[in-house]
Amino acid sequence: MPTFELSSASPTEVAADALIVPFFQGREPGPGVDVVQRALGADLMSTLADHGVQGKVGESFTIPTFGRIQPRVVVLVGLGKRSEAGTQAIRRAAMKVARSVARFRTVASMVHQVGDSDQESAHAFAEGAALGAYRFDRYKERPIDSASQEKPNLAKVLALTNGRRSASQTGLTRGQVYAEAANWARDLVNTPAIDATPAYLADEARTMARRSGLTSKVWTKAELQRGGFGGILGVGAGSVNEPRLIELTYEGGGSRASIGITGKGVTFDSGGLSIKDAAGMEWMKADMGGAAAALATMRAVAELQPKVNVIAAIPSAENLPGGSAIRPGDVLRHRGGKTSEVLNTDAEGRLILADALAYLAEKRPRVIIDSATLTGAAMIALGNDVYAVIGSDRQLIDALLAAGREEGEQGWELPLWTDYRRHIESSVADVKNIGIRWGGAITAALFLKEFVGDIPWAHLDVAGTAFAEQPGDVWPRGATGSPARTLIRYIEGQAGRGRAPRTSAPKASRPRKVSSRKSSARGSGSKRTSPRRRG
Ligand code: BES
Ligand code: ZN
Ligand code: MN
Repeated sequence: MPTFELSSASPTEVAADALIVPFFQGREPGPGVDVVQRALGADLMSTLADHGVQGKVGESFTIPTFGRIQPRVVVLVGLGKRSEAGTQAIRRAAMKVARSVARFRTVASMVHQVGDSDQESAHAFAEGAALGAYRFDRYKERPIDSASQEKPNLAKVLALTNGRRSASQTGLTRGQVYAEAANWARDLVNTPAIDATPAYLADEARTMARRSGLTSKVWTKAELQRGGFGGILGVGAGSVNEPRLIELTYEGGGSRASIGITGKGVTFDSGGLSIKDAAGMEWMKADMGGAAAALATMRAVAELQPKVNVIAAIPSAENLPGGSAIRPGDVLRHRGGKTSEVLNTDAEGRLILADALAYLAEKRPRVIIDSATLTGAAMIALGNDVYAVIGSDRQLIDALLAAGREEGEQGWELPLWTDYRRHIESSVADVKNIGIRWGGAITAALFLKEFVGDIPWAHLDVAGTAFAEQPGDVWPRGATGSPARTLIRYIEGQAGRGRAPRTSAPKASRPRKVSSRKSSARGSGSKRTSPRRRG
């Protein structure tokens, strides 16, 4: 990961291997073009014209400087139309250009000098550059970039500035914290499931917590059994890699009620006995993307120190069809007592999240947010660029959508259509874990809603965005860290908000208004025997 520094050196004299200079569509010069072309004695904009370079966002053209200025090359990078060139263009351009300058050790840039806010521009630049410079080469004998066939080298990025230094410095630092957290999530997601087991995730979380001053507690299998976490145990029952629940606490908000977060941590999703086909399993090491994003969020929050309290309870299990696996038709008893009928063991994410949501709800947080690679249906609906946001609280949903927009990591709302609750009505348990085929992202969310009680809640279905199956415009093949940056931005935006909880007894939960029919086994008076757990 490169370091980021402000520098007041001039673009022509800065001690850097490469100098990145922005321009706009139609070959309009951006900051730095003038001074550089005077020193080079060349007309850079007409050079671009000669080579058919338009100036679309991230489009770049590299020119050797033959010793006329300090940097050995000038990289002209497009920011799109001048009137639209703001933080989104800066971030995207930085992501793309970082991939092409990663072979240099030191890079200087003028890109953050575009835009209305010094802080936001510097944030977007550092964030984009750090995300773009990311490589996952831990498993390669020799680290070679697959695109350029060269060894990535980037160690230092200098943001050249003459203006308001403190705002730019703040932005650089924050952008770097966001991106490093997201890149850590990418590492966790890219790590193959043979290594990234629930215990591994828990160890990574514990190490991170120790380093950054968070409180942590890891629930082992035995502790989960004592605590009644039947969903996490059930999903993990078919694997020798035992499940965990990772609990992390950040306290920066005094006596205010916490923000509760969780994420799906299925370290490998084979589907269980309702087994997937081979193609369907290719990416299922990434089925802990929601958990990785929640962990990354806690890491960034610990570094940024906003005035909020945050509690994370992140369930992790491996969904395999071993001889002790749960079967279709089994009933699991979740934390807090609600039961679910497992009709498809491949709808496992909601089973582990149910326990975590119920556990968080016990703590009476201000809001609960979960992120999960939950359904193929969310991918079908929104594709790979946009995740689904489904929730019970208008303010929370809008704040998350806004945070995602600011981070260039967009969500889109799908309705919590409560009439579809009938699709997950079970004849033997309180709820069943699959609905009909249509509206699968919504029925999955309705399942989760059963476990949050009356706490305002939102769910991010990141099945499409957490990883890129194919290398694209900005993301290489593999994990993206989505939606970590959205969550971090949301939490930062909540600093100082939220009243202190009342000291009186917790209020009784309001009657649920989810379903028109209440014919489940619950309330029938008979005490069900506890669903069987194997040892
Ligand atoms: N982890 C998958 C969802 C998924 C699919 C994420 C593709 C990323 C890419 C999830 O556990 C799953 O298998 N969902 C099923 C649910 C169905 C059985 C109700 C699905 O979406 O098909
Ligand atoms: Zn899954
Ligand atoms: Mn599944």
